Amino acid sequence: MEMFIIRGGKPLRGIVEVQGAKNAALPIMAAAIAAEGPLTLHNVPDLGDIRTQAALLRQLGVDVERTAERTYRLQTRRPQECLAPFDLVRRMRASICVLGPLLARRGRACVALPGGCHIGHRPIDLHLKGLAALGADFRMQQGYVVGTARRLRGTTIDLAGPRGSTVTGTCNVMTAAALARGTTVIHHAAREPEVEDLAACLNRLGASIAGAGTSTLVIDGVDALGSAAHSVLPDRIEAATLMCAAVITRGAVQIRRARPEHLAAVIDALERIGAVVHCQADRVTVTAAAEMCPLDIVARPYPGLPTDVQAQLTAVLTQAAGVSRITDTVFPDRFMHVSELMRLGAEIHREGASAVVRGPTPLPGAQVIASDLRASAALVLAGLAASGETILRRIDHLDRGYERLEERLRALGGDVLRTVDTPAGIVPRRSSPPGGGLVPPHFRTPSALAERVTVCSRRTKG
Ligand code: UD1
Repeated sequence: MEMFIIRGGKPLRGIVEVQGAKNAALPIMAAAIAAEGPLTLHNVPDLGDIRTQAALLRQLGVDVERTAERTYRLQTRRPQECLAPFDLVRRMRASICVLGPLLARRGRACVALPGGCHIGHRPIDLHLKGLAALGADFRMQQGYVVGTARRLRGTTIDLAGPRGSTVTGTCNVMTAAALARGTTVIHHAAREPEVEDLAACLNRLGASIAGAGTSTLVIDGVDALGSAAHSVLPDRIEAATLMCAAVITRGAVQIRRARPEHLAAVIDALERIGAVVHCQADRVTVTAAAEMCPLDIVARPYPGLPTDVQAQLTAVLTQAAGVSRITDTVFPDRFMHVSELMRLGAEIHREGASAVVRGPTPLPGAQVIASDLRASAALVLAGLAASGETILRRIDHLDRGYERLEERLRALGGDVLRTVDTPAGIVPRRSSPPGGGLVPPHFRTPSALAERVTVCSRRTKG
């Protein structure tokens, strides 16, 4: 298993570029199912989740060809396929984005239920409600959603959920409605920029979608979607993570190809912490303050503070002088990073959907384990700020959403090494303690472990 060794305490300085947005690329790739002609996508990030989506689409009869670095060409070849198997869907929840395009274009879908995950309960009732309103029928069969539909019919749909709207649910219903007969109006649509990017791509394919970026979408259905080329928008969550990295290490970083208009809530939070943020059309420059102020922040649907940046901000606030409260209204249980941050030295306790952080706490460094994508980013940030060495395991979570993060952090002056843990990394020690029996396995110290790992010059995953 690969892992990071992070030697912290070095301020990040310099210039870095953000990649294309994973959360825009995934539903846009799925939309290729709904199109007749090829869809050429530029600025697609090189990530685990993108490879998973490509594998799923191939399974569903779509040719997915990487024609250049960051460019994919997607073209349906076998439209009779409709099975999204559990083995692929379980790897990534966003696989559910194939449901709407399959029903709209092929009239059948058999998609494994994505289930819950480490960030909490994640139902798909709103996806099903919206698609059923368009005329699809569903039944559950052995862990699969089996859907059938004749030509979908436009209607009025309300996608309000108990915690706001649904991002991938809006993507599913919007893509399906693009091919429905008549007009669909979606109330309480998600306003996230990734939904707007999907709408822009669908319009390039020939759809007629108005209102993207607002909570009301008006979609005039068309008979078919053709071919198009589209460039995926820059990743605001990656940009926000790099901004947090500048602040927590007390550095100064310019993040290029970022869209400041998509980062307003993050910029506001970092400015209230004390950082100086300078915005230009396609870049954001963040300069940390020597002293950080505590905050009371709440993650909400866009344009609120993203839940996908909640963990990273929690890491930053361990270094603020005073008590901070971080509440997540979107995923109230999304606090798996808290116990690992505490292992690194943070002082945090949970109060319902909130984490209360007392800072600033020295972070000496420790061995920690990533539980999910954004939790791993938070642990990398804390490791960069730690005075000692941090070993972060299960970085496969990180690789799902950040492209070669260690290389880019190193270019900014961070000391982050990708290594492979050898089987000898944990050595059980047999001895006879008083009372007999085995003592628990002995974990060697991080620096000793660092000497025994094999350094990967470059990842080799395909
Ligand atoms: C997307 C993002 C994810 C982000 C999340 C919230 C992608 C690929 N993933 O996930 O990174 O954290 O938005 O910004 O874009 N809900 C229901 N019923 C549903 C669907 C959702 O109650 O049918 C609830 C969820 O449990 C959650 C809230 O609505 O509390 C928002 O979830 P949703 O926007 O659907 O998240 P995803 O689209 O899965």
